[in-house]
Parts: sequence; structure tokens; C-alpha cells
Amino acid sequence: MKTPTSTIKEKMDTLVDELHEHSHRYYVLSQPTISDAEYDEKFRELEKLEREYPDLVRSDSPTTRVGAQPLEGFSTVQHKIPMLSLNNAMNEQELIDFDEQVRRFLSKDGHDGKEIDYTIEFKFDGVAVSLAYENGTLIQGATRGDGTTGEDVTSNVKTIKSIPLKLRGTKAQSGNVEIRGEVLFRKKEFEALNAERQERGEETFANPRNAASGSLRQLDPQETARRPLYFFAYGVARVEGNGGFAHATLREAMEEVESLGFSISPGYKTVTGIKGLLEEYRKAEEGRESLPFEVDGIVIKVDEIALQERLGFRQRSPRWAIAAKFKPVEAVTTLEDIIIQVGRTGALTPVAVLKPVPVGGVVVSRATLHNQDEIERKGLLIGDRVVVRRQGDVIPAVVAAITASRTGHEKHFQFPTKCPQCATPVERVADEAVTRCPNPSCPAKIHNRILHYATRDAMDIEGLGDKMVALLLEHDVVRELPDIYKLTVAQLQELPRMGELSSANLVEAIASSKERPLSRFIFALGIRHVGTKTGAVIARQCRTVENFLKLTEEALLEMEEIGPETARSVAHFLADHRDREIVEKLLAHGVHPTPEAAPVKGGALEGKTLVLTGTLATLSRKEAEDLVVKNGGKVSSSVSKKTSFVVAGEAAGSKLDAAKKLSIPVISEDEFREMVGA
Ligand code: IVH
Repeated sequence: MKTPTSTIKEKMDTLVDELHEHSHRYYVLSQPTISDAEYDEKFRELEKLEREYPDLVRSDSPTTRVGAQPLEGFSTVQHKIPMLSLNNAMNEQELIDFDEQVRRFLSKDGHDGKEIDYTIEFKFDGVAVSLAYENGTLIQGATRGDGTTGEDVTSNVKTIKSIPLKLRGTKAQSGNVEIRGEVLFRKKEFEALNAERQERGEETFANPRNAASGSLRQLDPQETARRPLYFFAYGVARVEGNGGFAHATLREAMEEVESLGFSISPGYKTVTGIKGLLEEYRKAEEGRESLPFEVDGIVIKVDEIALQERLGFRQRSPRWAIAAKFKPVEAVTTLEDIIIQVGRTGALTPVAVLKPVPVGGVVVSRATLHNQDEIERKGLLIGDRVVVRRQGDVIPAVVAAITASRTGHEKHFQFPTKCPQCATPVERVADEAVTRCPNPSCPAKIHNRILHYATRDAMDIEGLGDKMVALLLEHDVVRELPDIYKLTVAQLQELPRMGELSSANLVEAIASSKERPLSRFIFALGIRHVGTKTGAVIARQCRTVENFLKLTEEALLEMEEIGPETARSVAHFLADHRDREIVEKLLAHGVHPTPEAAPVKGGALEGKTLVLTGTLATLSRKEAEDLVVKNGGKVSSSVSKKTSFVVAGEAAGSKLDAAKKLSIPVISEDEFREMVGA
């Protein structure tokens, strides 16, 4: 018997609704309740039914997110309500002025001059779009354009998973609603996109905003679908025949926007009066680096809708809102020179010498240029006006040259063919971007190797910094790393600016570095691809320095959390007689890396793999890791199906999301302490 179409229709409707629900939980709430595999299964089931019953395909089906045909060009859209801009406040005083203007304007209009309630949200640095919904279904997406006329990017916005194809809730299923907000790239996905493009030899995007704009304006929606764009809603432009939006305050309206299935600004809040505004402005600017996306300020809006209506609009912007901008992270300056630094592995890194310029509150005079290809790709010439950008904690980068400002006096940079430190001809491995000095006794290499060995996370030798290392090498009291253990107070006292006390302190500090955990020692050796984390991973698995020295590439590949690149690099290091000699000399001078504790049999965490994320309140990361190991467990850096628990501290991020997605149990710091009896 053939299933009646009405039952099929019901089945398809249920699938569409379920898929929307799960997609909202995943992309907007970051709280999925089913696995990816289960989602895919439902999705395929729907696809199959849609192929069999094409007449029953709903226009808001999740399968319509991808699959639209490429366009010849974008058609234009007339905005029914213009997309306005915002006035900017560049500093606290201008924010104070804004609040005064609002109150003055309202007092003329009979307002009692009392403190105003304001909403606060982030000013997203992306592309503004307007989304039109008819009877709950997304029917059009348009860019801002000149504010009056935009481009129709409907097929492209449909590929953005955080944009609901269908509004949630029964109230929203009738009438017309237009939601406005910003399409953007989150930092992590932006970096991944650029890394991928760089690998393929394509041009990279200068910043997430350009990437968002370029991705949204692809003529082929399939291409947009491959770009993980995100959408935050910040306003409602037009409501017709939808009774839901009768709110007295903007905050309530935005809560409704959220309930329709949108993400609104994280940390959305209201404050009263200028004092609260200034406080939040400062807090937001301090916290901007830790956000997963870029923002260039906060947007402040009068909360009460009746007051907004009385304030009204200027030519192009509302009187009831203002963007309080943060200090820019980009600046324009002159590329005065390019110098070459030689690192501890011999890598030659070009560094931009810049005319000092403040960027995001810090004066920048140097920026990394990564490698030779990067200079060529960006087409940088010495003397160019360049855009410099600071992002998070990373070193400032030169984004691009402003070619229009060239005078003709700019000069090409010649990448050296000889090491600038020891004049040895440099080498470049065919498939690598890095140029290296192959000379094992290159003074720059030795300098940086000693410096690295002494850093806090490595052997932690106080007083053995850049200047001291230079002094020791210059006076020939140290020729290679192991020599530091032969230094005497008498020898050091002979050196310029060294007194008896400082000499004794240094000798003492060097001596006390002889007993450090194996994990630190492995890291301190400065092997390529071996950071603190990998040092700990290797130490945990080989436990003694003797075992470490016996490691082969095969044995390394067997280890958990060690990839082929790291395995090759460590094996190469151990097989190199010069590197090995250094290690052996260090041991001969009495360096005795302490073995890592063996995992405890029968411990509370035996056989369990834990992932630590976020900041723990009472334990350092190291202490927590030690507790896990002491109790027989393992610490892993990434969440996978093999993870037993995730311990989530303050401000836990993507790992927590991953745990939720894979339904891995998440425990608090207190629960963790209880487990290990701490
Ligand atoms: S409200 C009538 N809120 O900033 C007010 N705009 O200069 C309309 N923007 O093109 C804008 N984050 O794309 C508003 N939280 C936010 C925003 C925001 C970013 C952009 C918006 C607009 C520009 C205004």
C-alpha cells in the first residue's frame, strides 16, 4: 500500500522542524542535544523524501541552505526603511556629550531630565544585512549598500547557519518582520580561512571584515556556504501584522528577537545614566581581545521606545544611538627598513622596521614579516606607506602597502643569500617557506638557543637574559650551551658591569637549573615543533632522559598526541650527532632532569582522559595536570570521543562547545577536586 501523501508531508514537516531546532541549538545556543551523525541522518532522510516528492519541498527547508545556482550578478533591493549609520563617540568626553544631548533634547520636550536607561551591545565589525521574513519564512537578504539601495544576497545569507530560515514560535508565523544585523567572520575561522588560502597560494584577507564582505558577495552560493560566516542581530526594522513586537523597551524587543532564533550581542545589557555607560565602555574595551570575533566599539541605544520616538533622526543617523569606538587596531605608517633575525633553529625571519606609530594603545616599531614569500606576496617595498595591524596578543603584522602613496623612491628588498650573522650561505628546503642558516656554530643560533634554554618555561635560569647571553658569548667565556655549567664566579666577575653578588647569583641560578622536570628539559632543547605542551607529552610517555635519548621516529609516532611532523623533528634532532653531543655534554655537566612520575595504578582517574579548559580558580594549569597524572589519568589538549571528562573553568570556550557537541560529561573545578581528593 502506498503511504498517503498527507503522512509523507507530516513526516517531512517534522524533519524540517526538528532540523531547524537542532541547528538553532548547535549554531546559536552552542548547546546541541544530538550528535553530528544523528543530525546528518535526519538531514539525509529529508533529502531523500524531497527527491521523491519534489512538490512537497518547503521553501524554508534546511536543504535549501545550499544548492542555489550561481548568479550572473546581484539584483538590487530598495530598502523599505533606510539602513542608517551611527554617529561615533571617539572617547569618553564624546560619550558624556552624547548623554547630555539626549537629556537636553528630551527636556525641551518635557522630559524631567532624569537619568536615561541605555542598552549596550557590541559594535560588530562585519557587513550589515537586512533579513525579510514573511509569515515566519526568510524571503530576502540584502546588503546595506548606500543605505537606500542594497544588493540581493538571499541565496548567500541562506547558507549562514546562525540565520534562521524559519522564525521560531507560533506568534512569528504571521505578518512581516525585517531583522537587521551584522554578518561576520569569527577570529578563529578567519585565521583558518587565511591559512588555507595561503597554503593554496591564494591572496589572504587583510582582516575579518574584508573576509566577511568578500564571502557574502560571492556570486556562487556554494562558495559562500564553504565560508563559516556568522550573524548577530542588532535591530528590528519593520513589523507588519505581527502583534508580538509591541514592547515598551528595546531590551524587550531584542529578547523577542533572540526568541525568534537569532544570536544577539553577547553581554547585551542595560545601564542607567552616564556613569554606568562609562564603566561599561572601559570594561568592554579591556575585554575586546578575548572575544571570539572582532569589534570596533560598543553601540549605545536609548532603551525606552517612547523616548527613541521623541528623539527621532538626524539626516543619516538616529539621535537615540551612538557608537562608542575603541582605539583602532590598525594604523598607517612607513616601512623604513627590513632586517633579518636568525632564530635558534637558524630560521631567517625578516622583520619590518617601522616609523613608530600607536596601534590600539601600544606604540609599534617592529612587525614580523614571517618569510621571504610573504614580502613578495604583499609586494612590500622599503619606504612604502603600510597598514599595520595588531590583533590579540600576537605580534603586529604588516597587512599591506598603500601603493597609491608611492613616490618612486621605494626600494626592493633583497633577501640575503648568506646568514647575516656568520656569512654561511643559507638554505631553503623546496617545500618550505623558511630560509635557514645551516651552520651549527652560527653565533645567532647559539645565542638564541641559550636564551631559549634559560627561559621561565624551560630551565628557568634567572639572570640569563638577552644581554647576559650576549656578554658571555662576546667575551668568549661561553661558546656553546653546555659551557654555562662551567662558569665560575671569578670568571664572571671579570666581565664588565658584573659584581661579586650578581656573579654569585648567576652561578647559583645556573646550578639550580640542574634539577628540573624532564618535560622542561625536553622543551628547553629547542627542538623544532616541540613547545611546552609537547615537551610534557613526550616526557610523560618516556619518563626518563635515558628513554628519551633512545626514542626513534617509529616510537614517537606510536605516542599519543604526537603527529608525524613532530615525530620527524624530534627523531632528526636525536639522530644529529651535534645536537646529541650538546645533550650529552649537558648531562655530563650534572644536568639531571627529574623523571616524570609514573601514572598511579588504581588511581581515581585510571584509564581516564581529561581535557582542561578555561581558567581554574584554585589550581594552576600545571597543578591540575599533575593531579590528573598522579591519579592515574591522562591529560589531552583536545576533546574527542575518547575524552572521559572536560574540566571547565572560568571563560571556557571552544573545548566546552566541543564537549557539549560530543555529549562528553563536563565537570566543574570543585567536582574535579573532589574526584582526586584535593
Ligand atoms: S544599530 C539606526 N547596532 O554599524 C541604527 N549597528 O554605523 C542602525 N553595527 O552599518 C545600526 N554593530 O552595520 C547597530 N550593535 C550594532 C551594530 C551596528 C555594528 C554597524 C551597522 C551599521 C553601522 C552604523
